[in-house]
Amino acid sequence: MAKTPVFTSEEAIAGLRQSVHAKANNFYAMYSSVFGGIVTDPAFMVLPLDDHMVHRGHAVFDTATLTHGMLYQLDPHLDRLIKSADGARIALPFAREQLRQIVLETAAASRQREGSVRYWLSAGPGGYGIGPAECVSSGFYVIVFKPEAYPDRYYRQGIKVITSQVPIKPPLFARIKSTNYLPNVLVVLEAKDRGADNGVFIDQRGMVAESAIMNVAFVTKDRVFRHPPFDAILSGITIQRVLDFAQRLVEHGVLNAVRLADIPVEEGRAAAEMMLIGSSIKVAPVVEWDGQKIGDGKPGPITKKLLEMWNEDTTSAMDQLVAVPYPD
Ligand SMILES: Cc1ncc(COP(=O)(O)O)c(C=O)c1O
Repeated sequence: MAKTPVFTSEEAIAGLRQSVHAKANNFYAMYSSVFGGIVTDPAFMVLPLDDHMVHRGHAVFDTATLTHGMLYQLDPHLDRLIKSADGARIALPFAREQLRQIVLETAAASRQREGSVRYWLSAGPGGYGIGPAECVSSGFYVIVFKPEAYPDRYYRQGIKVITSQVPIKPPLFARIKSTNYLPNVLVVLEAKDRGADNGVFIDQRGMVAESAIMNVAFVTKDRVFRHPPFDAILSGITIQRVLDFAQRLVEHGVLNAVRLADIPVEEGRAAAEMMLIGSSIKVAPVVEWDGQKIGDGKPGPITKKLLEMWNEDTTSAMDQLVAVPYPD
């Protein structure tokens, strides 16, 4: 058996360089408060093991979409990050304005005009204990990357979901976007095992909650847009915007109403349309739930309309877009 080498610093750096895998082509730039700057070499896009995020999951995160060289809805995503940090009792390492500037400068350093920008606030490095008192200062990390693309069939043919057997996080944890995504990962794996694309969390009372990294909405047969209240799930930034779009459709007579209230599973199954909504998936139709058709089993017109409105928003809603300060 080969002996485990003990490296010099130079050998460790060479090892980091060698460890860069083919998929690291999708990682464009990273900011780390550990070294106080941005790197574009994936070899150095690493975290200290003693960070409370790594060994205790004591961190929160958020993601904004980079589109046409602009960050879409950066401010609501930053506000949610800060709210999550407050819930996780993580002090901000910098003022909000500086966090915002770092996100924008990391996006600029990536030189990409399309992609995802994800950022974490962590209790920071300092030891391996349970209490964060040992952490020397809270951490901030930003990565600009190319997200995994969802297949076209999700939008053309629609998505199949299952009711997940994985218990949903209790409300306190579901409302905080922390790095504990184990239940969410297990939902996706369970769905794939059962031949579906994603899963739906149902709460202890039998009400529809959310999906792995998406919110779940419905259109009833009498054209009411339905979504659960936000007290026991993550308050999605995308659904908040889509609720505005739905309200516009009410004003145009396309929908009859928008209603935020508990959705029993049976009501959801009887809907005319069901959709998954989130920054990654945008607005995508669900056509099958636990092997049963939703509506006529085809992507519905309201879902398509809401996706169109979302696409339009990401290119033209100047109050939702923040320009990235690219170098000349
Ligand atoms: C559990 C959960 N619910 C809902 C969402 C949708 O939120 P957003 O629209 O902000 O992406 C996400 C994604 O962040 C999520 O992780």
